[in-house]
Amino acid sequence: MAEIALGEIHKRFGETIVLNGVSLEIGEGEFVALLGPSGCGKSTLLRIIAGLEQADSGTVRIGGRDMADLPPAARNLAMVFQSYALYPHLSVRANMMVPLRMRDLTGFERLPLIGALAPGRREKLAVMAARVEMAAETLKIGHLLDRKPGQLSGGQRQRVALGRAMVREPAAFLMDEPLSNLDAALRVHMRTEIAELHRALGATFVYVTHDQVEAMTMSSRIAVMLDGEIVQIGAPAEIYEDPRDLRVAEFIGSPRINVIEAVADAAGAPVAGHGATLGGRFAAAPGAALRVGIRPEHLALAEPARAPLAGRVRHRENLGAEMLLHVAVPGIATPVVARVAPQAARALGPEAQVGLVFDPADLRVFDANGRRVAALARPERSRAYG
Ligand SMILES: Nc1ncnc2c1ncn2[C@@H]1O[C@H](COP(=O)(O)OP(=O)(O)OP(=O)(O)O)[C@@H](O)[C@H]1O
Ligand SMILES: [Mg+2]
Repeated sequence: MAEIALGEIHKRFGETIVLNGVSLEIGEGEFVALLGPSGCGKSTLLRIIAGLEQADSGTVRIGGRDMADLPPAARNLAMVFQSYALYPHLSVRANMMVPLRMRDLTGFERLPLIGALAPGRREKLAVMAARVEMAAETLKIGHLLDRKPGQLSGGQRQRVALGRAMVREPAAFLMDEPLSNLDAALRVHMRTEIAELHRALGATFVYVTHDQVEAMTMSSRIAVMLDGEIVQIGAPAEIYEDPRDLRVAEFIGSPRINVIEAVADAAGAPVAGHGATLGGRFAAAPGAALRVGIRPEHLALAEPARAPLAGRVRHRENLGAEMLLHVAVPGIATPVVARVAPQAARALGPEAQVGLVFDPADLRVFDANGRRVAALARPERSRAYG
């Protein structure tokens, strides 16, 4: 049974349609990333799961139970936001206690001074303190428990926010861009930590991000959201290698996938604007407009005369371990970007004329509407193309 099941969620703010029929099933213990550009509705969807926002229509089920009439506090979910929202005047320990005090203490027990008279309060507090210690140990912040948030680094604060979410042992963690306030190095570090935390807890994680690297590296499945819809959901490798929509292909991968306008010939092979047949055969009618995607890492340097793509190097970006060559191919509107080994590119003079070859099996072809066009047969690696 799915831990979280969303059925046909619709939401609009005034005239703006923000969610246009989102359905999604998340299994128990899964780590699902909701990935999409700014404004596509990720936070709204997460807030609807949490009960902080009301959908116009559709269903939210958690653990098989319809959440329609359940307030956020009763859903047993933990939200972690981009801003940590820690209480500055409370110690780390006290901050992490807050959700437990809210859940486990009665109103009377929470009263200052007089609350201490409540029978059983001391025992409850001891159990809560032990929970906090355990969470702190998991997150390696045990030594910070007596500090105030102002005395912590950004990464440490984010860990405290995670700890505060953990102590209640929620059915699922909902995280909304929790790392976007951190600097680049710390983000990379926390990526690993959150993935490890997920493994250690075995809990369900729903993680909102517009950062494809975060989604690719941490999640077991990625749901790609565009314009209020989930366009594709699958394992990171599947989303990357087998995009069903050109928008998905363009959103995932850095540098971006090259897109070459082409027309299908009688055999279904794409012919680019400069007249070169790109190879492979696809389920397209003769004359159909095609958009041919080829990722920069699937291009290799070759003799210009033998290559289906050839042109001048207009720009090169040396990233140390790899070199990005921007090649202006006559007849193709935007420069084609190839990711090559720096050693291979070093010998090239400025504005060198280069050829680019690829395996036609690496082409991802889309129709004029951006929908994926199936390959008719896995093309043989062509000798002429290297
Ligand atoms: N309370 C609101 N009232 C009106 N419009 C809203 C409200 N909340 C969100 N929106 C609009 O809904 C759309 C989706 O917002 P949402 O916050 O879900 O996007 P997002 O995918 O989380 O974006 P980001 O990556 O920038 O956080 C946006 O166009 C936003 O302006
Ligand atoms: Mg958001």
